Amino acid sequence: MIFPIIRPRRLRTTETLRSMVRENHLHIEDLIYPLFVAHGQGVRKAVEAMPGVYNLSIDNLLPEIEELIKLGIPGIILFGIPEQKDEKGSEAYAEEGIIQKAIRAVKKEYPDFLVITDVCLCEYTDHGHCGVIHEGQVLNDPTLELLACTALSHARAGADMVAPSDMMDGRVAAIRSRLDEEGFSHIPIMAYSAKYASAFYGPFREAAGSAPQFGDRKAYQMDPANASEALRETRLDIDEGADIVMVKPALAYMDIIRIVKDMFKYPVAAYNVSGEYAMVKAAAKKGWVDEKRIVLETLTGLKRAGADIIITYHAKDVARWLKEG
Ligand code: PBG
Repeated sequence: MIFPIIRPRRLRTTETLRSMVRENHLHIEDLIYPLFVAHGQGVRKAVEAMPGVYNLSIDNLLPEIEELIKLGIPGIILFGIPEQKDEKGSEAYAEEGIIQKAIRAVKKEYPDFLVITDVCLCEYTDHGHCGVIHEGQVLNDPTLELLACTALSHARAGADMVAPSDMMDGRVAAIRSRLDEEGFSHIPIMAYSAKYASAFYGPFREAAGSAPQFGDRKAYQMDPANASEALRETRLDIDEGADIVMVKPALAYMDIIRIVKDMFKYPVAAYNVSGEYAMVKAAAKKGWVDEKRIVLETLTGLKRAGADIIITYHAKDVARWLKEG
């Protein structure tokens, strides 16, 4: 049967009908807010390419968490800006590292608030790469030990979940077995499984001071041209013990979100990264796009693509918009 019997527009006539047949919904509880924490007191340093995003010292981090809780945002992912960088990224797994201190401070005040930590070395190494360097190459296996130590130190400080973002082979297994040995078998791993070597991370590297000092990340992050490889990477992470798998960036990789969801039926996180945020903010500031509509459309699109969880710098605005209806 076709027109004039069938008329899809009938169900678009009113908002009541449209909302009755709406297939996908964005919820505040889907959102994770990334935060950048720095040493010192009273630090609130704006990130130029990411309006509304700051490097915060711990004293300023706590009121921020308070605000997130009031907005109904269930959790954060924490990134650290260390005092000192060195060849092996020592502060990443130091007892008194910035992340370890921040976790303890947050969990002391807000024990029920979900604290996820990014597990990587690039913010902490003087060369800015995500692993140990030898003769200009990032070494895989020696890096695993450092990542496992980092994840363990986060769990010891009280993190609720760890999220390895380095893209070394075997890191989920290395972290899982270390956590299990040390009594943290209950701590989930959210693996950055399909993480691409992307230009969309540009503003983040300003925020975290983590740009590689030589070369690029193409020898460990994925080639943007590849899709089947994303499925192999995701399968490996699941086999190694990942509880949640992530696709990153989000917008240019919605097909990957869909196939990962369909293939594995695992909880999928999409990371709406810094460059995606910066583009919307810049265009909105110029008055060229309607920020609220663009953001809600994009994030609803990620849900439609198959994401269960969305990590986004827009989280606070989205929570306000969803509340006002
Ligand atoms: C660390 C890490 C990066 C991001 C998350 N974890 C940067 C990178 O891989 O260069 C990017 C997040 C963003 O752009 O918002 N490896």
